Amino acid sequence: MSSPDWRVFSDPEALVARLADFLCEVAEEAITERGAFHLVLAGGSTPKALYRALAARGAGDVHWHLWYGDERCLPPDHPERNSYMLETTWLASSRIPAANRRPIPAELGPDQAATLYDRELKSQADFDVVLLGMGEDGHTASLFPGHDWGMAPGSPDVLAVRNAPKPPPERVSLSAARLCRSERVWFLVTGSSKKTAIAYWKEGGVLPVASVHGLRETVVWLDAEALPAVG
Ligand code: 6PG
Repeated sequence: MSSPDWRVFSDPEALVARLADFLCEVAEEAITERGAFHLVLAGGSTPKALYRALAARGAGDVHWHLWYGDERCLPPDHPERNSYMLETTWLASSRIPAANRRPIPAELGPDQAATLYDRELKSQADFDVVLLGMGEDGHTASLFPGHDWGMAPGSPDVLAVRNAPKPPPERVSLSAARLCRSERVWFLVTGSSKKTAIAYWKEGGVLPVASVHGLRETVVWLDAEALPAVG
């Protein structure tokens, strides 16, 4: 597996500005070529600045089709839900139809939600872009070290997650194998708390983040604070 491209920016603001512009360019290219743009959204707090930048650009329309990389098993209106964060930060004020937004029904519990989302994904071809974050332990989406990442052939596209080390313990996650079925995989990582995991990743460490790569490119968009000291 080839190592990712590392794109380092002086600060999160510069990173987000460039990433928002590039994402919109890639979306236009996909829509021109295939009439649609399929984007998998990242959860957590880091990407909120990107979603605000996309909202400020009026990004998204009827040609955009959104999926979630993972979701926490909480009520839909819970402020810790990834879908709640996305709706309030960008989607509710966008031109993307609700039918195109496809939240994971994680309020139903990990097993039923995973089964339903897996069924919805069956008819979906490869994604154009998968956006992902990274935890301090190198997890991504809700694929955690020591858990099943869904790499084995025949693994389901969507995993029920229990005993997650990052609360809440019950989650739903696209598998590593399904996240790899994307032209582009982009990781968005900022802040000094991620430096240790980035260093381990760069050394070739076995981590969930290192198991996800795109068909065309894998890019880690990071700021200088997240970059380990040289040497
Ligand atoms: C989640 C996310 C998770 C997140 C990382 C980084 O639901 O928690 O999918 O994978 O991307 O934990 O989170 P922060 O961006 O908040 O550091």
